[in-house]
Amino acid sequence: PKPQILSGKQVVITAGPTREAIDPVRYISNHSSGKMGFALATVAQQLGATVTLVAGPCQLSTPYGVERVDVISADDMLQAVEAVIDAADIFIGCAAVADYRPQKVGSTKIKKNSESLVLEFTRNPDILATVAARKKPPFTIGFAAETNDVVNYAAGKLTRKKLNLIAANDVSDTQIGFNSDDNAMTLLWHDKNNELQQRALGRDSKTAIAEAILTQANQLLN
Ligand code: C5P
Repeated sequence: PKPQILSGKQVVITAGPTREAIDPVRYISNHSSGKMGFALATVAQQLGATVTLVAGPCQLSTPYGVERVDVISADDMLQAVEAVIDAADIFIGCAAVADYRPQKVGSTKIKKNSESLVLEFTRNPDILATVAARKKPPFTIGFAAETNDVVNYAAGKLTRKKLNLIAANDVSDTQIGFNSDDNAMTLLWHDKNNELQQRALGRDSKTAIAEAILTQANQLLN
């Protein structure tokens, strides 16, 4: 058994992709497997936390002892998060939320009547930034998947979204990330003097990475 460092803590985690309807039979989405978020939920429960996992559509079984809320779209995900966030001590936004959704969702199937089709998109709410902007936000952790300048872009997101901690990974490395069981990350946060701190987590299983992220978060919380 692991040390119960998160005992008495409520943790809310988003995971997986979101799915945005185009018409009654079609949607746009992305390749997120949900594995990183599910690993975080598994390990947070093992460290003694009470865990709510808000999951987009993904093919993973619910971790032992975890309360799971299934959602489809970004709007659904925000609503599910807002329903449980008041009691949360830690929020982890690990979902690959679609940045945009089709502006108009047809009530009937779009027919292939012409040689081209234009869809108009509208911005989705930023769930992570919405949580971090609350009056009394929980300790808020975000993820940044970047293909270049990983640390710089992640540090920008840390500040802009008012996060307590960000986990950045290089998704140009196809060996890790997305559907892989492994990951490698850099953790970034601001210390008490508002100096940017960073810690590299070398390639390891998503479970081991999850434990390192939660241990770092707990140290910063205390
Ligand atoms: O800005 P970017 O999408 O790269 O930020 C990634 C982080 O923000 C992730 O933690 C992701 O879960 C979160 N996010 C969110 N809602 C969005 C977009 C991103 O919670 N609409």
